[in-house]
Amino acid sequence: MAKKKKVTNVKITPNHNKKAENQPVQTNETAVVEDNTPKHIIEIQHLSKNFGDNKILKDINFSVDKGDVVTIIGSSGSGKSTLLRCINLLETPTSGEILYNGKSILDDSVSVKDTRTKIGMVFQSFNLFENMNVLKNCMIGQLKVLKRKKEKALTKAMYYLKAVGMDKYINAKPSQLSGGQKQRVAIARALSMDPDVLLFDEPTSALDPEMVGEVLEIMKKLAKSGLTMIVVTHEMGFARDVSNKVVFMDKGIIAEEGRPEQIFSNPKEERTKEFLSRVL
Ligand SMILES: Nc1ncnc2c1ncn2[C@@H]1O[C@H](COP(=O)(O)OP(=O)(O)OP(=O)(O)O)[C@@H](O)[C@H]1O
Ligand SMILES: [Mg+2]
Repeated sequence: MAKKKKVTNVKITPNHNKKAENQPVQTNETAVVEDNTPKHIIEIQHLSKNFGDNKILKDINFSVDKGDVVTIIGSSGSGKSTLLRCINLLETPTSGEILYNGKSILDDSVSVKDTRTKIGMVFQSFNLFENMNVLKNCMIGQLKVLKRKKEKALTKAMYYLKAVGMDKYINAKPSQLSGGQKQRVAIARALSMDPDVLLFDEPTSALDPEMVGEVLEIMKKLAKSGLTMIVVTHEMGFARDVSNKVVFMDKGIIAEEGRPEQIFSNPKEERTKEFLSRVL
């Protein structure tokens, strides 16, 4: 069995200054210059997704601000993964809009590669390159997609591997790692691309229970550092304690959304109450 490893105390995502970019700019003059940065980093408008005759997402609307940690909760099959996959362009929405910094990412003129660089994703099943060692896994995207110089890619990869406590394992292949270690490498790989937003689809669901904590700990640190995160999770403790917005999905719609204290202590909708009574 893999040993539990204490996560080292490296600061994660040094460049994410929470909400600072949305502040108006004060000049020496008396006038205040309006900052034109769009209010929301991600805005989903009337998003629908059908698979054949099955309407999986139905008129989804919600927005994410810089520094937000949004958790998406709901029963199996309610459309949580499909929603994240649409935001990462792994699925093409049937209708509706997804704006990133005020611009559509569904527009043909916008490169999918660029969007995925800005909006990264961490999967339940890690999706590491099995034939590459840990270091190469964290460098390959930087070299091939971002065209970074080898030295810079190496520095970034080492920085984030250290942050997730995996810098001692750079020569290991994924098959030699525990699930928790693989997920920490997957997080370091995603961070090495310097995303603006990181999506997580049930990042701890495939892990043995004793490894869930080490991954949640990293995610908590990321949240504190100001990284914008959208997290599909069954970890209600994480949703309640770490996120600042909870979205409850039911049968392809957002049935309720709000601050965690409201959703968990005082849900308005009957189906939210029913769901929470089953999972808490
Ligand atoms: N590629 C696909 N083709 C057809 N149907 C699909 C496809 N992907 C998802 N679905 C269907 O869409 C529905 C929602 O699936 P989704 O994976 O988004 O749910 P989820 O909320 O993430 O569930 P879970 O908690 O089990 O992961 C399911 O009924 C699923 O079978
Ligand atoms: Mg899912």
